[in-house]
Amino acid sequence: VPAVTAATGPASATARPKGRDPLAFDPDAHTTLTASVVTDEGEKTVTYRFFKAIPYVAEPVDLTYQTLNVSVPVAVDGHPVDATRAPILLSNAVGGYMPSSTAGATGISLNRPNPPLALAAGYVVVEPGARGRTLVDADGTYYGVAPAAVVDLKAAVRYLRHNEGRIPGNTDRIVATGVSAGGALTSLLGATGDSRSYEPYLRALGAADASDAIFAAAPYCPITDLEHADMAYEWNWGGNPLAGGSPVDQSLSRELRGQFAEYQASLRLDGRGGFGRLTARNYDTYLVSTYLEPSASRYLAALADDDRARYLAANPWIDWNGHRASFAWADFLTHVGARRKNVPSFDAFDLSTPENNLFGRGTTRARHFTPWSLRKATGDDRARLDADLREQLGLMNPMPSLARRNPHRARHWFIRVGTKDSDTSLTVVGNLAAALENLGDDVDAFMYWDGGHGVNLDAPDFIDWVGRVCR
Ligand code: DHB
Repeated sequence: VPAVTAATGPASATARPKGRDPLAFDPDAHTTLTASVVTDEGEKTVTYRFFKAIPYVAEPVDLTYQTLNVSVPVAVDGHPVDATRAPILLSNAVGGYMPSSTAGATGISLNRPNPPLALAAGYVVVEPGARGRTLVDADGTYYGVAPAAVVDLKAAVRYLRHNEGRIPGNTDRIVATGVSAGGALTSLLGATGDSRSYEPYLRALGAADASDAIFAAAPYCPITDLEHADMAYEWNWGGNPLAGGSPVDQSLSRELRGQFAEYQASLRLDGRGGFGRLTARNYDTYLVSTYLEPSASRYLAALADDDRARYLAANPWIDWNGHRASFAWADFLTHVGARRKNVPSFDAFDLSTPENNLFGRGTTRARHFTPWSLRKATGDDRARLDADLREQLGLMNPMPSLARRNPHRARHWFIRVGTKDSDTSLTVVGNLAAALENLGDDVDAFMYWDGGHGVNLDAPDFIDWVGRVCR
């Protein structure tokens, strides 16, 4: 018997059965809808194909969350659109690290600006759901805690790339976006593309065997770098004595603030524009000159003369030379006023924050995830974090992947946060942007003047940016 024939026998016996691909996109499974979208150029009527609640993993845990919707424009104001090779906007709606379902949606989301504007620009819009921290099964097990949400979004990316050529849009031009916790997850998608650390989680869900690298990432006010967020928060907002109406414990604040210097030094990041090494001592100067003054300048320049005069009269701490605003960090902090969160902001002693819950495990709803809070809360100076937390924190933080120069990271970034957003430290965006800039990536980072948590004040610019970088 020739050796070659033996190869076909046993090999075919062990090959996977050639059944239907459970993750094949069905191009016919859509309804045709219309949306009216207010753009820079007036209101547009967009006709689009809506593909609803498609499971993006073969072995889902919860189909309320592990599905995605696809919206494909076919005409704008009656003019045909061909989205076959268009950019794909992957827009998650996660907030507060809570579960996020898009399964019941009857069309594209109209309640945030990016999805409808992207559709009207001729892009494909994909809206994935994801598990979140509060989900508990009948046994009391928390099945949406870290890293479930980022694993789900990666599985959604893999689904899209697995369907290259079947699904409308260019799967090599996936642009992820999201706000706050959704911005943090967006940063993770961008920074950790194709990281092997998520592989066991993806495999357990039957995620498609495809790349989860994305082309570009657009996080808005990402609530990320969580294990360093308490120290960063006190560095940034610690001088503001009130959280809501109550005074903040200044000695705890000072203790945390002291830790920030060491952490910031460990990042070894250089500021934009030849600023040099970013430290706890110069970061206020850096934020003022690189982000805050340009932000105020753009804001003031865009105001009508009498509005600008009124704003400057109400804010005499701002020096306006006719083109540029300048001011001191301390005055900026006074202007922002009461901080949003108490001390510690993220790893609370009473385990009451969203992040304590995010780092729950099994039937434990919430855990400490910093040694400092764990030790303060327990009164045990030698208490140690649960052993699994090192991995979980790593899976939820984009900074280590950037420090490792992950070659499969997104190379184009659009990063935004409001200057009055005290949900986390402004250094979170500063450091994310600096890490990417230091790697030579294409970064458009900007802070919206007087913007609060979650704002998106230049959506048309973002849509143009997507078109430019995806060309
Ligand atoms: C969000 C806000 C927070 O202050 C936080 O700690 C986590 C998430 C959010 O809006 O998604």
